[in-house]
Amino acid sequence: MASLGQIIFWSMIVLIFLFAAIIILILALTFSGPSSDVESSNRSTIANLGQDVRLSCFLLLPNEGGAQFSDVSITWKKEGLSGLVYQYRDGAANLRDQDPEFRGRTQLFTDVINRGNASLLLMRVRSSDDGVYSCSISSSGGGGSVSVRLRTAAFSAPTFTATKDILIAEAERWLPKPSVTWFDFAGKVLNASTTFTQNSAGIFSIVSMLQPVTKRDPYTCNIQSTMVMAVSEATITGSGVSERTTFTFSAASSVPASNLLSIMTSVLCIYYLT
Ligand SMILES: *[C@@H]1O[C@H](CO)[C@@H](O)[C@H](O)[C@H]1NC(C)=O
Ligand SMILES: *[C@@H]1O[C@H](CO)[C@@H](O)[C@H](O)[C@H]1NC(C)=O
Repeated sequence: MASLGQIIFWSMIVLIFLFAAIIILILALTFSGPSSDVESSNRSTIANLGQDVRLSCFLLLPNEGGAQFSDVSITWKKEGLSGLVYQYRDGAANLRDQDPEFRGRTQLFTDVINRGNASLLLMRVRSSDDGVYSCSISSSGGGGSVSVRLRTAAFSAPTFTATKDILIAEAERWLPKPSVTWFDFAGKVLNASTTFTQNSAGIFSIVSMLQPVTKRDPYTCNIQSTMVMAVSEATITGSGVSERTTFTFSAASSVPASNLLSIMTSVLCIYYLT
């Protein structure tokens, strides 16, 4: 016969599993959208105005490796637009119903279509391309649709020059208007003077001057808009300025980070209260 200790022990184990299951259920309900065989590797894409961008959309493969599909049709639409962005059917592009907005600016990656990859190349991005796109695939291997949010911005890496004890950063194209912040190697904010000039298309060019600076000390220049951040490291060397810039993009996911935090906190609270 089981002792009281054993009963308590096993009850605890069962309770722990029960709570784990409830938490997993809550998380699953929170994060799962409608199920579909179609996915995108970047559901919130930021494009640089005037340049090309790839909107990702692909069929999840039932098995690993080079599965090939037949009868693939692909339709790209944009929310609020009656014409299509792109259509592919019966092994060829079908652009009869394409909206004039997109004429001559779209293509698929033809060599990967039969592997269920319906990614769209949108060329020479304009600010009117901003919006929500949907990609639908149907094929012998399944189908579904996914939506991709495209936002447009302008961003370019700054170039650095140095004269005497001044370090100058110049960046040609930014939109929306960013803020510019300089830091020394210890992360202390430095006082610089920055001027913004807006061209006829509304795009800002930036000249930011930092003074005084010393040779061989690394300086960091952050240019940050609501969508893009460029972090540049610049060091004045004997012969010029050595520089390196990395871009990061704001990922506006469907679940904002603050919501995520509150969901996590409530799960923890439920856990502790019981
Ligand atoms: C789809 O094709 C594009 C263009 O060749 C490629 O960059 C991307 O990685 C592919 N995506 C998948 C999931 O294979
Ligand atoms: C920052 O620079 C401006 C001029 O560029 C100057 O007027 C101001 O006093 C400086 N502030 C500090 C804290 O050095």
